[in-house]
Amino acid sequence: MRKAILRRAGSPFSFGGLRQNTDSILPSAPTRFTRAGMDFEHITHPAPVPSDERDAALADPGFGTLFTDHMVTIEYDEAKGGWYSATIGPRGPITLDPAASVLHYAQEIFEGMKAYRYGETGEELALFRPEQNARRFNKSAERMAMPSLPEKLFLESIRQLVAADRAWVPSIPGGALYLRPFMFASEAFLGVRPAKQYKYMLIASPVGGYFKSGHEAVKIWVSQDYVRAAPGGTGAAKTGGNYAASLVPQAQGIAHGCDQVVFLDAVERKWVEELGGMNLFFVYDDGTVITPPLTGTILPGITRDSLIALLREEGLTVREELYSLDQWREDATNGTLVETMACGTAAVVTPVGTVASPDGEFTIGSGGIGQITSKLREKLVGIQTGKVADTHGWVMMLD
Ligand code: PLP
Ligand code: COI
Repeated sequence: MRKAILRRAGSPFSFGGLRQNTDSILPSAPTRFTRAGMDFEHITHPAPVPSDERDAALADPGFGTLFTDHMVTIEYDEAKGGWYSATIGPRGPITLDPAASVLHYAQEIFEGMKAYRYGETGEELALFRPEQNARRFNKSAERMAMPSLPEKLFLESIRQLVAADRAWVPSIPGGALYLRPFMFASEAFLGVRPAKQYKYMLIASPVGGYFKSGHEAVKIWVSQDYVRAAPGGTGAAKTGGNYAASLVPQAQGIAHGCDQVVFLDAVERKWVEELGGMNLFFVYDDGTVITPPLTGTILPGITRDSLIALLREEGLTVREELYSLDQWREDATNGTLVETMACGTAAVVTPVGTVASPDGEFTIGSGGIGQITSKLREKLVGIQTGKVADTHGWVMMLD
């Protein structure tokens, strides 16, 4: 039965090592991948982590502290006509001129995505909507006055690194290889203008759950003193500065016993925007679900977009509209709001149990995981790992 789901609609096609999963009803124009048009130089790691050490570490990888043996680097120089010199080699420190403009003016962007063990045996590996990460990477680049990276080069770098480090993909439940593509201004220049030289890099980190509390509901802190992003700012771009701005409020949240911070809009300090690294969904007892709209101050999450589709498939009504903190508190208290979900690549789908602020706390539903959150999480993870049919053509198989 499960096999039938995995291998229903004929053999997947292959271009440059990435295969669209054709087990599903494909979108009318499936994304095709061709070779990236640039050869990668391979430098063999002289001393990769011994397999027994690696496997011991993979049993409990945590989040973001364990790294694989290799990394990808691609250089950019305006004077040389753009991107050149793609290398996959041993992961290690890099040298940077102290005047590199990223160190002064923060011209930097990144992405976050995962390679999953797929199917019954877990021997195959899959990506989830990687073309969306490639697209968002270039949107972020545009906002930060950085050059765009051809999508197929971005995808080819992912394929090359996962192929080199495939033994690093954890097999534990909920485990995945977190991929972190990033780009920064490397030109040594102190004037304030877009740099002419950049480095694109890709590193990989085997991960388990993002929250130490595992699947339990998280407690979040409402940041009243600080905002994350303002209209016209960089909130919709995945750029380091947004995360730097979240650190002090995040520390305040932790000091108040919370796991994450929720940010309000910068103008009225009234509308709920998102968490430091996750989007939000509010679930009502009448089957209505509200999520804040993409007005330029929040990150357009790929998990958010996927959940909107999955919720609608479940027959729920999803509305992208402004949602106030007062409404949230009132409806959680009167019981009409039954669940709140936080979602993102790192956190997957995590229930928000309690919301705390200097004005006091309120609890959502039972304070634990709700029915919709649990169902959606199972469905999303099922699609990502090949246990649920991918009817959207979201899964990209890796050779
Ligand atoms: N919001 C922020 C600020 C994030 O950093 C992330 C994580 O990437 C998300 C939302 C969720 O985005 P995605 O679902 O694409 O991972
Ligand atoms: C992700 O979900 O990929 C992110 O970048 C969020 C970050 C907090 C790890």
